[in-house]
Amino acid sequence: MVKAESQQGSDQKSQALISLRSVSKSYQGPQGLHPVLQGLSLDVMKGERLSLIGPSGSGKSTCLRVINALETISGGEITVCGHTYGQSSLPVHKIRQFTGMVFQRFELFPHLSVLENVALAPRLTKSWAKDRAEAKAHELLERVGLKDHVLKYPSQLSGGQQQRVSIARALAIEPEVLLCDEPTSALDPELVHEVTDILQDLADGGMTMLIVTHEMAFARRVSTACLFLEGGRIVEQATPDEFFDNPKHPRLQQFLRILHA
Ligand SMILES: Nc1ncnc2c1ncn2[C@@H]1O[C@H](COP(=O)(O)OP(=O)(O)OP(=O)(O)O)[C@@H](O)[C@H]1O
Ligand SMILES: [Mg+2]
Repeated sequence: MVKAESQQGSDQKSQALISLRSVSKSYQGPQGLHPVLQGLSLDVMKGERLSLIGPSGSGKSTCLRVINALETISGGEITVCGHTYGQSSLPVHKIRQFTGMVFQRFELFPHLSVLENVALAPRLTKSWAKDRAEAKAHELLERVGLKDHVLKYPSQLSGGQQQRVSIARALAIEPEVLLCDEPTSALDPELVHEVTDILQDLADGGMTMLIVTHEMAFARRVSTACLFLEGGRIVEQATPDEFFDNPKHPRLQQFLRILHA
């Protein structure tokens, strides 16, 4: 029985594009080590779209950052597309071939044109020739509605346009998984839909996604499952309808009550 369960666990892990097992992460704070992720385990299967929802400081960004090998972990194990890493190693180049990341504040290079911003990633990560990378960048910039802006610089674009460039950049490496950290929270409310429409479109096309968002209507629409993070732990995981209509954990109930107040 135990063996069957452990076999099932390992099958699950091998089919998941992203798998976290008992991941912990602490930061050194003024009062000593401050735990941010506390034994976090989750799987993202191909084609799934998981929304990470939770109060400020619950570890959502840290979760995405450790998956994308932007931070080391203090314990446990992460597997991304077959590459497993733990405390000691950060296989940055391997991981970044599979993950595209969209940040809250766009993080575009200000001194590069829109086209160069998008073409740079596959040139660095996948050693693509300039022509191939630029052809891909043109195709993606057209897809996000920016074909007339390719020679502009980020400062010449609106926030919504900049975030669309950043989505095109994340897609340029042809990722297996898209990691989005509050992709709309720095945008004027009127521009939010520019970005959510594109992410919805990607979702409809089958893209696997892990999304941190405070846009609850978007999370409900786009997700295959919603996870509630509190104190670096997942305290609830459910289908979007269950999550929003029938929350079980008192902390999630309180969180949703405050949102609706
Ligand atoms: N580089 C760092 N050094 C020290 N502490 C950090 C660092 N990054 C994050 N933290 C702390 O870790 C905790 C979790 O941060 P994290 O950014 O993951 O939260 P979050 O859930 O994304 O919050 P928000 O909704 O405000 O973005 C917070 O207490 C934060 O202060
Ligand atoms: Mg955050």
